[in-house]
Amino acid sequence: MIKVAPSILSADFNNLGRDIQALKDTGADYVHFDVMDGLFVPNLSFGLPVLECVRKITDLVLDVHLMIDRPVRYVERFCQAGADIVTVHVEADTAENTRAALEKIVACGKRAAVCVKPATPAEAVLPFLDLCSMVLVMTVEPGFGGQSFMADMMPKVQAIRRFIDERRPGCELEVDGGVGLETGPVCAAAGADVFVAGSAYFKAADPAAFVAAIHAM
Ligand code: DX5
Ligand code: ZN
Repeated sequence: MIKVAPSILSADFNNLGRDIQALKDTGADYVHFDVMDGLFVPNLSFGLPVLECVRKITDLVLDVHLMIDRPVRYVERFCQAGADIVTVHVEADTAENTRAALEKIVACGKRAAVCVKPATPAEAVLPFLDLCSMVLVMTVEPGFGGQSFMADMMPKVQAIRRFIDERRPGCELEVDGGVGLETGPVCAAAGADVFVAGSAYFKAADPAAFVAAIHAM
């Protein structure tokens, strides 16, 4: 079954506690938590204090997507603040430091993941796959919710699906950006098994029906 990870970047921040508590009732699997530093991406979002608050009110898996430069500096603090999965971008540091970041996440007893931006090839995940519980493929340029899905990322999803099947069975493959009921089927066909959904989930008239429809893809 495909998992659904609503991105709380599209939640109502005046009612964040309410929106997060509702996630469980709608059948969502993960809470996707987008951290932006204004350097790696041209936008700012939220960080450690907000994650600690979110951790207190949900037992869903907290899927933390770090869109920050040199994440090795911060991964342990995100683990301590309550992350279950910590995702770092391969473009955010040297390969050596990316491996060090993943090793720190694993040493904290958490699930480590790498993410690739649209211009980054599938092969870029290979040096890190042995440490990963998940790989995230961006289907928009990271930085903002509500952008249009890039269908031309599907060959990359297919290629990474093959790498995972050959070298790291059980590793999840997540897509992020513009994913919803219309774009989900191609992601599923390409081999993705976790869908991040920001605007599609939070704008859905019936979020539980939205989650059920994705679970059935
Ligand atoms: C974009 C973020 C996404 C974003 C997705 O940089 O990584 O998680 O919230 O939002 P939608 O689903 O609206 O494209
Ligand atoms: Zn994200």
